[in-house]
Amino acid sequence: MAPARMRKGAQAEAFPVLRSGSPCGRHLFSALLSAPRHAIVDVPASAIPTDETQLETAQLDHFLYRNGQLHAEDVPLADIAAAVGTPFYCYSAATLTRHYRLFTEALSPLPHLVCFAIKSLSNVAVLKTLGDLGAGMDVVSGGEYRRARAAGVPGSRIVFSGVGKTREEMRLALTEGVRQFNVESEPELRALSEVCVSLGVTAPITLRVNPDVDARTHEKISTGRKEDKFGIPISRASEIYAEAAALPGIDVVGIDVHIGSQLTELEPFEQAYLKVAGLTQRLRAEGHDIRRLDLGGGLGIPYSRSNDAPPLPLDYGALIKRTVGHLGCEIEIEPGRLISGNAGVLVSRVVYVKQGEGRDFLILDAAMNDLIRPSMYGAHHDIVPLEEPQAAAEPHLYDVVGPVCESGDTFARARPLPALQEGDLVAFRSAGAYGAVMASEYNTRPLIPEVLVKEDHFAVIRARPTFDEILARDTLPPWL
Ligand code: LLP
Repeated sequence: MAPARMRKGAQAEAFPVLRSGSPCGRHLFSALLSAPRHAIVDVPASAIPTDETQLETAQLDHFLYRNGQLHAEDVPLADIAAAVGTPFYCYSAATLTRHYRLFTEALSPLPHLVCFAIKSLSNVAVLKTLGDLGAGMDVVSGGEYRRARAAGVPGSRIVFSGVGKTREEMRLALTEGVRQFNVESEPELRALSEVCVSLGVTAPITLRVNPDVDARTHEKISTGRKEDKFGIPISRASEIYAEAAALPGIDVVGIDVHIGSQLTELEPFEQAYLKVAGLTQRLRAEGHDIRRLDLGGGLGIPYSRSNDAPPLPLDYGALIKRTVGHLGCEIEIEPGRLISGNAGVLVSRVVYVKQGEGRDFLILDAAMNDLIRPSMYGAHHDIVPLEEPQAAAEPHLYDVVGPVCESGDTFARARPLPALQEGDLVAFRSAGAYGAVMASEYNTRPLIPEVLVKEDHFAVIRARPTFDEILARDTLPPWL
């Protein structure tokens, strides 16, 4: 089906231009990135910015109220809802671009490559938006590798991560081109060497080290402690690097580390990067030509607008320069969430407002299968009506739920929101990362469309499947 493509009437108002160096820019950047540790605290409706001035200073992204309507850049989200139906994901190209550039600016003038972690948001149109800016890609499967290539990203800008790469995935990347494999274990190293020998090629590799650092983030997304399944123990690095250097088809180019996701402090990064710096010097003394450091992703984002400022990419960049900048290595980072998280919203419609025992349920047409983060991690997402609430409107407490048949299908409990009615539209903010990519068709609810906005244009970048398409994927065995 050809993607819908629409043009809205151009709007005169420009977005404020943020400059990281200026005091004003810095303040805005700080607001841009403020985040709570676990992001599960509810925000009173009164904290939701309601006028342009407040919105500018609290601006996280390009989703703003204008003329009483929530817009994605210059397009009212309600117009998209009318065209594509609800629920749907909507991404802002300007926000993706801005966030990518924050990192490249933060790392300059070090030689570097920002490799977008595709796992956070893997739509090919999003990847092409970033790839066209020069971004590299961090992939963790043959499927993600194919997506990066389909977006026109050359193999020379693709790093291949993940603890369980299969020989088939290795062959694919080695045949079509890859910047490096981030190898996570000795058996993987040996398998890669065998595949390289069989193909008559050499693979550039880093070894992902597990630095045994607590990222102080959610248990399920912490990856750098010794009990986590990731990387090789840093204590055995010398031995394993020596084995790697001796294997045919393997070219050791550097070190990789990634300690977790949604980090809201720089200190764990600092601990890990200092260990990597020490290891670089040790491995060089042992004869390895360590020339590239992949420092992973993980910088957190604001899921609520009412919390303290977290680290900024600029400060993160300064930390990288301070800890490993003197080593003369090329730096790679793999941010996902900070680029894609606040670049996306999930728009949903109120199906019913139901009065329960001492509580009101807002039953939406989006559910846990569309956005699983609240039920999986207890994660908070701000929810705002598409129609701008009156400043004086009394907040009402709702349990916000979806239609799926389990109580875990709850987005928020006792959430203060303006009074809402059947048919009203709402947006979940900060839903760009780990939203659409983690969706399923549980309860045979079709995967929801993805829409990309650029200025006053929008296009469907993944269409909602029809029920015929869904049913056609099931096949009957011959005996039925
Ligand atoms: N590099 C590696 C090796 C990773 O495992 C990850 C994330 C990243 C980079 C990107 O991290 P980011 O910059 O996005 O924090 N589903 C969870 C998040 C899982 C993160 C997995 N690895 C969530 O919804 O919070």
